[in-house]
Amino acid sequence: MLQEGHKDHQGHQPPEPLPVHPAVIQKARSEKEPPLDKGVIPWLGHALEFGRDAAKFLNRMKVKHGDIFTVRVAGRYVTVLLDPSSYDAVIEDSVSLDFTRYAQVLMDRIFSLQLPHHNPAVEKALTKQHFEGGSLSCLSSTMHCHLQSLLLQAQRPCHNQTDWNTDGLFSFCYSLLFRAGYLTLFGGEQNNNRTDPTDVYEEYRKFDNLLTKMARTTLKPEEKRTAQSVRGRLWELLAPAGLGEGSGSSPWLRDYRHLLQEEGADEETQRRALLLQLWATQGNVGPAAFWLLGFLLTNPEAMRAVRREFSSISEQDSAKCPLLDRLQHTPVFDSALEETLRLSAAPFITREVVQEKTLQMANGQEYQLRRGDRVCLFPFISPQMDPEIHQEPQRFKYERFLNKDGSVKKDFFKGGRRLKYYTMPWGAGTNGCVGKRFAINSIRQFVYLVLSHLELERCDSEAQMPEVNSSRYGFGMLQPEGDLAIRYKPRHSH
Ligand code: HEM
Repeated sequence: MLQEGHKDHQGHQPPEPLPVHPAVIQKARSEKEPPLDKGVIPWLGHALEFGRDAAKFLNRMKVKHGDIFTVRVAGRYVTVLLDPSSYDAVIEDSVSLDFTRYAQVLMDRIFSLQLPHHNPAVEKALTKQHFEGGSLSCLSSTMHCHLQSLLLQAQRPCHNQTDWNTDGLFSFCYSLLFRAGYLTLFGGEQNNNRTDPTDVYEEYRKFDNLLTKMARTTLKPEEKRTAQSVRGRLWELLAPAGLGEGSGSSPWLRDYRHLLQEEGADEETQRRALLLQLWATQGNVGPAAFWLLGFLLTNPEAMRAVRREFSSISEQDSAKCPLLDRLQHTPVFDSALEETLRLSAAPFITREVVQEKTLQMANGQEYQLRRGDRVCLFPFISPQMDPEIHQEPQRFKYERFLNKDGSVKKDFFKGGRRLKYYTMPWGAGTNGCVGKRFAINSIRQFVYLVLSHLELERCDSEAQMPEVNSSRYGFGMLQPEGDLAIRYKPRHSH
């Protein structure tokens, strides 16, 4: 096995090398490679600590080794790079570093999906085309309608308009945004024979709770059975989506189905691919809205500033400019969202080394990367939580990304160097998020509608934000451990 040739950086080697064929002799770890930390457990290496709390573990490694090091994780060697000034050396190299291989491993583990004749570049071009320009405006306006009607329904459980509804903020945000997003992209409606979005949401949440364990292949036998049955149920629920205009699905999903059919994917494979798309399009937006609304509820000054901005938008003449167009200019909200994502978006950006590469760091140092290893960026540690770049990085400061004159602040520094990547919730480069604009529009509309239609507050006015579920570092938006209890009722009712 390729990794077996790694010698630790103290120079220890296996006792007596057995005679092996010259083709399988691995070269010893050289001075030019990043420091190697194998951990004490054979083969597993640091897998357990990594899985429990990757942010804590990688911070510990950063203190020990600096901005670049290689760790052993479940038989694989992963080089972690934590210097944002050097990220482009990884992001912009799609020749030596490959995005799709590791993505395929995860696709198989989580979605039980293989797409042998699939062309990711064609898929990306198709998705891009549907999530920008005029198509994006159509999607955002459909999303707005669904959000409005779902919010109206959410107020119904209380018959008396003066009564409060209670819920957890995470469930409230995730459920509303997931269902509105599902209706917008996948179709289906309540009260007819199509798939009910609430059923999809409920099954999806069970799936989501097992997702990190599926990715790490650490499901217990009982959990494995649950995962399989939930996945099967979701495949069934998604079966009609994207099949012709009658499905009520978006043109994007219909084109995507068509592409899969052209590539020769059978019906079963297509459903599995739809679950992957459900995760990519719905898995992050609800949790992002939760952190944002939560930070606003626990930071009254930020809430006042966002409300002020939204009020001035509602007061403008809608005959001159439609609401959704006016909602495009919200610098205060945008800064609050950027700040939220800085604190709560924690994806790994992973590439597989497909040919030996010399990685040139911004400080001029060079490191050799070995074919077959993985490279992983973790922007959550730096730039996002780096105290040298963002003062008091643990604190939510809604105006962090605003200049004094109200314009967008883009000047952030580390080691005297102005940074290109000062926060990175959407990834970057050719594999950056295709749905960024749609996601931002959806979250903005949601927060606008909630704040204008509802009186919303914490059940306990002293309650703080819940802790982060530390097993989710590396999987996109973080999720809370527990929830924040809220109550709400229609506005203007006393
Ligand atoms: C708050 C919400 C979201 C966040 C934080 C987010 C974040 C990300 C990140 C970090 C990546 C890059 C992954 C990597 O480099 O390995 C990514 C990729 C992607 N995102 Fe999002 N995303 C969000 C919402 C959405 C939505 C609504 C869509 C719907 C179209 C979407 C579609 C995609 C797609 C298709 C890719 C894959 C791009 C590729 O294959 O190269 N995302 N997203």
